[in-house]
Amino acid sequence: MNDSPLLAVRGLTKRFGGLVAVKDIGFDIRPGEILGLIGPNGSGKSTVMKLIMGIERPNAGSVKVDGVETAGWAPHRIARAGVGIVFQHSRPLHRQTVLEHIKLALLPDSLTKLAADPHVNQRARVIAERVGLSAVMHRHPATLPFADLRRMEMAKAIARDPRIVLIDEPFAGLTAAESAAFSELIRGFREEGRAVLLVDHNVKSLAALVDRVLAMYLGEHVAEGTADEVMRNETVRRVYLGGKLEVRERAPANGISRPVLLELEEVGVQYDKARALDGVNLHVGEGEFVSIVGLNGAGKTTLFNAISGLVPYQGGIRFGEQNLRGLSGAAIARAGIVQCPETRELFSDMTVRENLDLGGYHLADSVRADQLAWLFDLFPILKSRQSQAARTLSGGEQQMLAIARALMMQPKLLILDEPTLGLAPVILEHLSKALESMQKSTPITVLLGEQNVTFALPHADRVYVLEHARIIWEGTPLRFEREMGRGFLEALPSCPPHSVQARA
Ligand SMILES: Nc1ncnc2c1ncn2[C@@H]1O[C@H](COP(=O)(O)OP(=O)(O)OP(=O)(O)O)[C@@H](O)[C@H]1O
Ligand SMILES: [Mg+2]
Repeated sequence: MNDSPLLAVRGLTKRFGGLVAVKDIGFDIRPGEILGLIGPNGSGKSTVMKLIMGIERPNAGSVKVDGVETAGWAPHRIARAGVGIVFQHSRPLHRQTVLEHIKLALLPDSLTKLAADPHVNQRARVIAERVGLSAVMHRHPATLPFADLRRMEMAKAIARDPRIVLIDEPFAGLTAAESAAFSELIRGFREEGRAVLLVDHNVKSLAALVDRVLAMYLGEHVAEGTADEVMRNETVRRVYLGGKLEVRERAPANGISRPVLLELEEVGVQYDKARALDGVNLHVGEGEFVSIVGLNGAGKTTLFNAISGLVPYQGGIRFGEQNLRGLSGAAIARAGIVQCPETRELFSDMTVRENLDLGGYHLADSVRADQLAWLFDLFPILKSRQSQAARTLSGGEQQMLAIARALMMQPKLLILDEPTLGLAPVILEHLSKALESMQKSTPITVLLGEQNVTFALPHADRVYVLEHARIIWEGTPLRFEREMGRGFLEALPSCPPHSVQARA
C-alpha cells in the first residue's frame, strides 16, 4: 500500500448561520483504504462530503487531493482532480435510459456529441454489467426499483473513474442481499487502489467493510480507530448506537375482540405486466399496531398506496363503515388515513414549523399546541430548527420531520412506510419509545411497513409477512421470532449495535 494519503483533510469547518455543522475535522485516506464516517443524524457527515466535493465552501480548513490544495475550488474542478460522489438521493434525468446516463458520465461536458462512439457504448455496457444493471440498461430511471436507482448512481461514479470516492448512505433502504452486492462493489474500489469515504447508518455493513472509522457528533470528532474500537466507545454508544430494541409479550387482549377499522379483501394491483399485489386479505383492529414485514419490491408501498387511494386496485377496502373504492386520495385522507411515504414529500422550501403547521391546520389551536409540544419533545432537533428550510435538513432530520408532520395530522390510521430509512440507531430507539407511548396515550391505529424487523416487531400486536405480492404469514411478533426464525431475520437488514463485526 502506497503510504502518502490520496485525500488529506485538516481543520475542516463549516458554519450555516449560527450553526457549526462541521468543526475542525481532519483525517487522511490512503489509496486502497476505506474510511467509515459515522454519527447521529445531523452530525455533519454529508456536509463533510459536500465540502470535499466543493458543493459547499468551507469556512476554514484544508482539503488536499494527492497533495494539491482544493479547498474552495468549484465542484467540476474537484471532479477533474479525481474526486467523485455518490449521493444518497438520485435525481435522474427522465428522458435518458440507464445506459445513456452512464454514457453521459463517461464523457467530459464538451464531448457529449461523442455519445454515439462505439467505445463509449462498450465501456458503458461493461460498467452497467459490473454494477448489476445489464438487464435494465435500456429502461428509464422512473421505472426502476429503488436498488437499481442506487446502482445507477454508483455506475455514474465509476464511469468518471475517480481516485477518491465519497459514498453517502449506500445501504439505506436496501435489503441484506442488495447491501452485500454493494459491499462487493465498494471492496472492488479498494482493490483498484481508490480511496473511499463511506457514510452509513447500517453499522454492521459499514464495519464489515472499512479499515478505520471516524465518529462525529454535533460537527465534532468524537472517536477514531478500528470499527470495533469506535463501536465500543462510550460516547459513540450513548449518542449514536443506543440500546437494543426487544420484543416483549403484549397483553393477550391486544388484537382480539377489537372492532375492525381497516379491512382488505382479495386486493390485487397490476402494473403493466407485473402483478404487484395478489389476493391480499388483511385487517387492522381499532387501536391495533400491525406491521407488514417484507423485502424491497415485496409490495408494501403498493399496498399502502392502494389503501390511500393512489393506485387502482381490484377487490375491496373498507375503513370503518366506509367503502374506500372510488374515493379520491384527498377524501381518504379526510376520512382519517394518513400515509407517511418512503419518499417523505415535504414542502422543501417551507420551514420546519410551516410543514408542521400545515399538518395540523385542521386542529383546534389548543390541540395543535399540545401536539406540537409533544412532537418537539419527541424530536428535539425539530424544535431548535423550526425556522430552517426543510430542504436544508440532513437526511435523517427530514425523515423525522416527515414522521412528525404525519403525527401532527392526528390520523385515525397512521401508515408508516419504512420510517427507519436513514435514521441513526439511537433515533430508532426514540421513535420506538414514542410509538409505544403514543399507543398507550392515544386511540391511534398504526400500520407499519418495514424491512427492519428489529424495529417492526417490538410494538406490533400482529405481523403480516408480504412476499412477492402475497401475504404468506400472519401472527404475533413472538410467534414470528419462533417460526420465521433467525433465517428470515438475517435475510433482512437491521442495525443491531451489539453484534458489530469488524473486518477480518
Ligand atoms: N444549508 C443549510 N442551512 C442550514 N443548516 C444546514 C444546511 N445544510 C445542513 N445544515 C445542518 O447541518 C447539520 C449537518 O447536516 P448533515 O447533512 O451534514 O448531517 P448528516 O450527519 O449527514 O446527518 P444524516 O445522518 O441525518 O444524513 C444538520 O443539522 C443540518 O440541518
Ligand atoms: Mg447525511
